[in-house]
Amino acid sequence: MVSRVIPVEDFDLVIFGATGDLAHRKIFPGLFRRFVAGQFPETARIIGAARTAQDDAAFRNEVDRAIREFLPGFGEEARLAEFLALISYVSIDARGINGWDELKGKIRPGVVHAFYFSVAPALFGDIAERLAGHGMADESSRIVVEKPFGRDLASAKALNATLARYFDEKQIYRIDHYLGKETVQNLMAVRFANILFEPLWNAQYVDHVQITVAETVGVGGRGEYYDHSGAIRDMIQNHMMQLLCLIAMEPPYHFDPDAVRDEKLKVIRALEPLKSSEIVRGQYLAGPDGPGYLDDVENTASRTESFVALKLSIANWRWTGTPFYLRTGKRLRARTSEIVITFKEPPHSIFDETEAPKANQLVIKLQPNEGMHLTVMIKEPGPGGMRLVQVPLDMSFADALGQDGTDMPDAYERLIMDVIRGNQTLFMRGDEVEAAWAWTDPIISEWEAGQARPEPYDAGSSGPDEALRLLHRDNRRWREIRS
Ligand code: BG6
Repeated sequence: MVSRVIPVEDFDLVIFGATGDLAHRKIFPGLFRRFVAGQFPETARIIGAARTAQDDAAFRNEVDRAIREFLPGFGEEARLAEFLALISYVSIDARGINGWDELKGKIRPGVVHAFYFSVAPALFGDIAERLAGHGMADESSRIVVEKPFGRDLASAKALNATLARYFDEKQIYRIDHYLGKETVQNLMAVRFANILFEPLWNAQYVDHVQITVAETVGVGGRGEYYDHSGAIRDMIQNHMMQLLCLIAMEPPYHFDPDAVRDEKLKVIRALEPLKSSEIVRGQYLAGPDGPGYLDDVENTASRTESFVALKLSIANWRWTGTPFYLRTGKRLRARTSEIVITFKEPPHSIFDETEAPKANQLVIKLQPNEGMHLTVMIKEPGPGGMRLVQVPLDMSFADALGQDGTDMPDAYERLIMDVIRGNQTLFMRGDEVEAAWAWTDPIISEWEAGQARPEPYDAGSSGPDEALRLLHRDNRRWREIRS
């Protein structure tokens, strides 16, 4: 199945931090794919802005190299020259005066203006102020801000207040790239476009939910950022919180940005405070693929976690009694992101004790191999007695929809097009981000005030043993980490 492309209107997109890693890896390759798909008009303009002094030609060469490197085998290189022709460059001083008049001169009236802040959060306020000061914060403007959005509630509030001085909430697009992933949106489709699951989607029928985001990479190369952040700030407060919200939220009255975000916010506000006895933190040791965490961040005294597993409860009518277990970590045994909904066992078995039915599980796989499987009990084939066996009902999206992975739009592609369309559904609202920090802040402060060190775990393992015990204590077990 070829995905439908609905063109967006004409735009000027300014990328601050255009020479940075994110721009190279994700933003420009994503824009190129959307260009090849014919999603935006050839009149659109993309303006790179960064501190480096260089001309348009040098910057286009840089983008050309980045696309070849980060879209290997895409096979559309012949169209690169056309794409590069849409791009220009301005050398700009985010905290000074240089470059701003030149940038203003490139912005065309009458088209959408999007400003992508792919820079350190410390610069968000300076850039917003200068855009406003140069008359670029008009009604057609929108700004896109990257995570981390603050490092605690106070800093997130301050950042929200700064941006609010120049832009209305409707113009602020806070990116959480997990919301742009195909299967994450499918979560909403599965829940709200089918009658099948919703009646069972509550504490009466769901025993527990597991959300795992496991990575094989370490933090090498990003050690400085990561060591000031840790898994709870880097993954739980944002990406995993968003997944949790989409699983746990009530049906919104409409698929409308504020209706969806209102429901997500209610979930975050209903979270019970985290208990330190229900959180496990870990740090990876050295392994065949690289040094241990402490060497990676060049800080032998570091108490920052590269792994976290926790149990949380949602205090509302739908979910009281159903625990949610979240775990994420670096240098684990496989790269996989999945959500597992384990239903309760049937209340009474009519079969012999040895044949007792096992609980149904719905596994929603975000990556790799996007898809869903539902395990169901059936009769084992053959002429013997009534023996039961658990089998998966598999739906790989690639098989079902005839798309190979390379055809699936990357999260960034979709999100940037949503910015141009003016659709904020897949972006975090300011109050959501603040509520998530309000929930993680107390436990982070407790860790920071204490001396406890995270549990060491072997690289290539499933994390510290303590994380396994977190579920064993409840007579449950994690689904094995495998890709
Ligand atoms: C980023 C985190 O937001 O998400 C990284 O800062 C993490 O530490 C990454 O590796 C994971 O994203 P994905 O899309 O590869 O699962």
